[in-house]
This record gives sequence, C-alpha cells and structure tokens, in this order.
Amino acid sequence: MARAATSVRDALDSALIPLTAAGCENPRLDAEVLLAAAMGVDRPWLIVNSREGVPGPAARVFMDFVRRRREREPVAYITGIKGFRHIDLAVDRRVLIPRPETEFVVEAALKLPQGARVIDVGTGSGAIALALKHERPDLDVVATDVSADALDVARHNALRLGLRVGFVQTDLWGDLEADAIVSNPPYVEAGERLMPDVALFEPHGALFAGADGLDVIRRLVSAPVRFLALEHGQGQADPIEALLRGAGFTTVDRIRDLAGIERVTVAHR
Ligand SMILES: C[S@@+](CC[C@H](N)C(=O)[O-])C[C@H]1O[C@@H](n2cnc3c(N)ncnc32)[C@H](O)[C@@H]1O
Repeated sequence: MARAATSVRDALDSALIPLTAAGCENPRLDAEVLLAAAMGVDRPWLIVNSREGVPGPAARVFMDFVRRRREREPVAYITGIKGFRHIDLAVDRRVLIPRPETEFVVEAALKLPQGARVIDVGTGSGAIALALKHERPDLDVVATDVSADALDVARHNALRLGLRVGFVQTDLWGDLEADAIVSNPPYVEAGERLMPDVALFEPHGALFAGADGLDVIRRLVSAPVRFLALEHGQGQADPIEALLRGAGFTTVDRIRDLAGIERVTVAHR
C-alpha cells in the first residue's frame, strides 16, 4: 500500500526540533519559508492548506534545506532569494544578504531632486541601487563594488528586474561624478563576534572595516557630493556625524530603525 504523503503541518512540526536545537532564532518562520520554497508555493498557502500532503520530491528538497539550515546557512542563501522594499533579489554567498534597516537608505534617497546622479557605493546584490531605480526611474543610478563576484550578482539582478543601472568595479566611487552617494558600507569592528549565520556564510569583505569599523566610512565622507546617506552600526552615529561635519556637511540627520537604534545618517551641504 502506498504510504500517505506527510502533511504540511507534520513537515513543519518535524523541522522545529532540529532547527531549535541548532540555535535558529525563528525556527517556525524558517521552516515555513523553506517548505514554501521547496513546494513552490507561498507561506499563506501553507497556512490555509496545512492538511495537504507534501509531494515526495518537495519533501526531499525540504529535508535537504532543513539540513543546511541546521548548519546555520542563512535562509536567503538556501532559497536564493531575498525581498527588499518592492523587489526580490537573487542572492548567494558572493554577496551580503540585504537587511531591512538598509531600506531606510533608499527611503532617504527618494527625496533627491528629479534626474539626480546617484552612486551606490558597495552595492553587493545591487539592493540599494536597484530598489532606488525601481522607485525613482528618473534618477541616474550607478553602482560600484570592489568585488567582481558581487557585481556579477548585481548585474544579474538588474537584468532579471529590467532595471537600467550602471555597474563599475572600483574602490569607493572611483573617478565617477555624482550629486549623491548612498551606501551600506562594511562597518563591523575587527574581532566583533557575529552570529554563526553571518560569520560562517557572509563575505567578510562586506562586513569588516578596521579596528573601530569606520575605515571605509572615514574615506566615504570625503566624497565630493551634496548628499550622502550611510548605513552604520549601533553606536557609530556620533563619530560619523563628527566626520561629516568636519568634511563640510552642514545638515546631518540621524535615522532610527524600527528598534529605535540610530542606523542611518543622512548629510547635505
Ligand atoms: C555591507 S555590504 C552591502 C551590500 C549592499 N549594498 C546591501 O546593502 O545589501 C558592503 C559591500 O561593499 C563592498 N566594498 C567593501 N569595500 C569597498 C570599497 N572600498 N569600495 C567599494 N565597495 C566596497 C563589499 O564588497 C560589499 O559588497
């Protein structure tokens, strides 16, 4: 007699113990996202159809996904996709996984004047540049990165999304000219202990920036632009504001994330 397929609910329940034991912070959410990806459905479908059977091939893919997550591989690298503002970005281990707090950098840049020239420095997956172009097609957006691997991912995302953004492999802004720079640069202090998901899987060149985490930002503030929007770490807003004012920026606004932590600084001159 053929064995009945495992139900959606049972498949999700079976993943909870190993994911919890592995130290995953949101085991239920992780299991839902991974099962939805394995079955080619969305999460609401799983909730409405929790008694449905999981087809054999999808169940095997799900088991492999859960094994990878138990080793703390981030969910976005397993599914290969991450939502950012109103777009979905393809991601893999060559790029940082876009974070929700980075959406504030895009939001700040939405106020730029019509047709402004903008550089996204350290574009990674293309997150900031592509989300901005998607929401403000009038802007002239160029994205840079030192990593050729990251630029491959970003170019692939631009093609997938049909967004016209230029890509340049260079240190910071190279010899490009612009009205504005937006950036989520590396800003983690050398030696800082990170969650295994980050430390073991995300590219270290995207994370670390010297003893105080400010090595890249110290150079970024000298950019010859009228507008600069930077993401940074908790506790870095004071030294960054001092650096910006020292570089001649006259207006400096500090933006808090949803947890109330200052994570983005926006400067004008
Ligand atoms: C924190 S990640 C941000 C990626 C993407 N902007 C995002 O928010 O998801 C920083 C990126 O900056 C790049 N990077 C590091 N140093 C750089 C430099 N000096 N010039 C240009 N890009 C740099 C890294 O390769 C990495 O892709």
